[in-house]
Amino acid sequence: NTLIRDLFLKPEAYIESEIKVSGWIRTTRSSKTFGFIELNDGTYFNNLQIVFDDGLENFADIEKCSIASSLIITGTLIATPNAKQPFELKAKEIVVEGYSTPEFPLQKKRHTMEYLRTIAHLRPRSNTFSAVFRVRSAAAFAIHKFFQDRGFVYVHTPIVTGSDAEGAGQMFRVTTLDLENLPVDDENKFDPTQDFFGKETNLTVSGQLEAETFALAFRDVYTFGPTFRAENSNTKRHAAEFWMIEPEIAFADLTDNMSLAEDMVKYIIAYVLETCPEEMKFFNERIDKGLMDRLSHVLNSDFGKVTYTEAVDALINSGEVFEYPVFWGADLQTEHERYLTEVIYKKPVFVINYPKEIKSFYMRMNEDQKTVAAMDLLVPGVGELIGGSQREERLDLLIDRIKELGLNEEDYWWYLELRKFGTTRHAGYGLGFERMIMYLTGMGNIRDVIPFPRTVKNAEF
Ligand code: 4AD
Ligand code: MG
Repeated sequence: NTLIRDLFLKPEAYIESEIKVSGWIRTTRSSKTFGFIELNDGTYFNNLQIVFDDGLENFADIEKCSIASSLIITGTLIATPNAKQPFELKAKEIVVEGYSTPEFPLQKKRHTMEYLRTIAHLRPRSNTFSAVFRVRSAAAFAIHKFFQDRGFVYVHTPIVTGSDAEGAGQMFRVTTLDLENLPVDDENKFDPTQDFFGKETNLTVSGQLEAETFALAFRDVYTFGPTFRAENSNTKRHAAEFWMIEPEIAFADLTDNMSLAEDMVKYIIAYVLETCPEEMKFFNERIDKGLMDRLSHVLNSDFGKVTYTEAVDALINSGEVFEYPVFWGADLQTEHERYLTEVIYKKPVFVINYPKEIKSFYMRMNEDQKTVAAMDLLVPGVGELIGGSQREERLDLLIDRIKELGLNEEDYWWYLELRKFGTTRHAGYGLGFERMIMYLTGMGNIRDVIPFPRTVKNAEF
């Protein structure tokens, strides 16, 4: 059995040979004596054109096969230098492995993204989603490769956790439905309302705090896993379940953190452009016309760097009227982030040193006592792609912040111990994986870069 990928990558090896392929019908058309099938076998974005004629004993049957039917085809690969496709397969034998029916919902016409979300089990068979999910897979590999090549240790942080890494309370509680069968602990009777074996737990919002413990042992580490946020934001950029990559580096400051983030983003873009050329061509032609130009420009220029204070001044001086008002101390909203990166700076830009009031407890206090060493990377089309910071490594200052924000010091006892036993400067960030895929593909809605999105009203599959 030959894979269609191999035909496209190395046609010389197969032209004029007899081969056997298997795949699904994407389109089919025929006249009285011959027909064409566009076959996709899942190994490559492009389809293989099959030509068949009434020399086949089951011609009448094949001609009637509907879209999505699965076939096994033996034939000779013929070069077609003057046609749209570089070669086609002249079929000698076609065996139907599984029939489909005309009710198959992905008939050859334009479907809306909203409709395709209702058939999440079938949409991977469309061109758009075949491209999206192949890019998603390649980008995940690129991220591992980037960090592994640099000696980072991959750490698996827990999904079920007792701590709130962001201190923002946006967590989903973990409960059991099987209260009667909870293991009994005689000395310490479990409270069934706090029922992770007697402890109140949540789904993790971030693996950062646990990653910090590993950074202070392994120096350079990263996480790559699912995270959950009970945010009530029904937007194109928020999901309740999303994947996050969180590197954490010891003996490093905010500047080191920014160069790591810039190198990583550029590496992922370069890797995907190189390994998914057909998919990227498709996105550039069909989803977002400026995509390729924008991405190549990003590879060939430096990211911008501005302070929060400069960014706020630039927004105020722009004269633009925003839905949410801009003033020093205001949290930047998506509309502000996009304006900064799309209109003012026109490229990816790091915004650093945010007011401490709008950032998390663990960020390092700057000398001005008003701002913290935070960094957000904003990119055109998406807004916030990365959020990170240098961490507060000074025990007393960290405790002050935890108290100031009304958090419970005891909950963070192990995190605080990192500052007692050989504390060091360290920094890290979180890359939202889905937002990276949106940036790479030009797809406009986070629901369309996740195989089975978990957002408000989307949990059917
Ligand atoms: O800015 P956030 O909340 O930062 C953290 O979680 C830190 N603990 C990261 C760190 O320093 N290790 O989230 C990081 C990134 C955001 O920039 C965004 O790309 C993505 O995660 N993100 C979301 N993506 C999709 N849906 C959501 N609801 C998201 N919330 C954050
Ligand atoms: Mg953030």
